[in-house]
Amino acid sequence: MAQPSKTRIFMTGASGYVGSVITEFAIAQGYEVHGLSRTDTNDAKLKALGAVPVRGDLETLDVLRRESANAQIIIHLADAMTRNPDFSAGLRVDAAAVDAICETIRGTDKPLLVTSGSLLVEADPNGDETTETYPLQKNPVNQRWKAEDHAISWAKEKGVRVISIRLAPYVYGRGASGVRLFMQMHARNGEVTCIDDGSARTSTIHVDDAARMYLLAAEKASAGDVFNCTSSTNVTALQLAEAMGSVLNLPVKFLKFDEAVAKFGPFFSKFLSAVNRASSAKAIQTLGWEPRELGILEDIKSGSYQALAKELCKD
Ligand SMILES: NC(=O)c1ccc[n+]([C@@H]2O[C@H](COP(=O)([O-])OP(=O)(O)OC[C@H]3O[C@@H](n4cnc5c(N)ncnc54)[C@H](OP(=O)(O)O)[C@@H]3O)[C@@H](O)[C@H]2O)c1
Repeated sequence: MAQPSKTRIFMTGASGYVGSVITEFAIAQGYEVHGLSRTDTNDAKLKALGAVPVRGDLETLDVLRRESANAQIIIHLADAMTRNPDFSAGLRVDAAAVDAICETIRGTDKPLLVTSGSLLVEADPNGDETTETYPLQKNPVNQRWKAEDHAISWAKEKGVRVISIRLAPYVYGRGASGVRLFMQMHARNGEVTCIDDGSARTSTIHVDDAARMYLLAAEKASAGDVFNCTSSTNVTALQLAEAMGSVLNLPVKFLKFDEAVAKFGPFFSKFLSAVNRASSAKAIQTLGWEPRELGILEDIKSGSYQALAKELCKD
C-alpha cells in the first residue's frame, strides 16, 4: 500500500541557528524538510538533521519557485541584509525572493512565514509592553522593517498567506548565537560593556521556543498575521552584563552611549541599550503557544553557555 506523503516544508536558512532547530522539530513531528543550501558543509548539516538539501540561494529564483510549488509550507529565515555592507541591496534581494515565492503560492492556502525582529517598534513611553501594532521606531538599528512591510503587502493586497515572526533581539540557547558572540567579545576585551546604567529592558526567546512558534504559526496563523516571539520582556542590560561577567570572571564596565558609539559603532551600541518589551500575548492566544525553556540569565549562568564560559576563561 502506498504510504501517505509527508507534508513538505521548504526552508531558507534551514542550516542556520534558528533554522536547524525548526528542521529538527519539524522532522520529529513528521514533516519532510527541504532546506536551501549554498555550500557542501550546509548540505552535510542538513542531511545529518534528516532534511533534503536543495542547492541554491536567495537569488536563484527558479529554485525558490520550484521548491515553493512543491512544498505545502515555506519558512524564510535566510537574511540577505544584516551582514550585507549594502543593506539596501540586501533588501532588494529579499524582496525579489519573497516575490518569487508569493507569485508561486498565490491562490493557494500555503503559508509563507517570514522572519523579522521585535526591535522594529518604538518602546512604550510608560515602560509597558508593546504589541505588534505599535508604531515603528523613528531611529531603528536598521531598515529591516521594510522587508516585513514588503512581505506583508502580499497578504494585504493579494491575499497570500504571509505571516511574520518578529524574533526577540536575543534569541539564545544551545550555547550559541548573540550571547555566544557577546561572551567572546567581552572575553577579548577583558571586561563586559554595559551602556549608561544598564536599566534598559529587552526581550528574549529561547531558540527551541521560537522554533515551536514557527511550526504552530504555519499550522494556525492567517494571512497578514504578525507575531512577537518573546518569552521574557523584563531582563535588563545590566543583568545580562552581570551574568556574563560572573561566568567569565570579568568586571562590568559602564560606558555612556556616545562613548560606546565611538568604541563599538552605532549598531552594537543601539542594540545593547535598546528598550524592547514586546509581548507575545497574541501568539499565546491565537496559536496556543507557550514558552517553556530556561530563561536567558539561568542559561548563561548554569545552562548551555557554561561550556563556552569555561573555554573562554582558560584563554
Ligand atoms: N539569532 C538571533 O539572535 C536573531 C535575532 C533576531 C532575528 N534573527 C533573524 O532570524 C533569522 C535566522 O537567524 P539565525 O541566527 O538562524 O542566522 P544564521 O545562524 O546566521 O543562519 C542564517 C542562514 O541563512 C543562510 N543564508 C544567509 N544568506 C543567504 C542567502 N543570500 N542565500 C541563501 N541562504 C542564505 C545561511 O547560509 P550560509 O551558511 O550559506 O551563510 C544560514 O543557513 C535571520 O533572518 C536573522 O536575521 C536572528
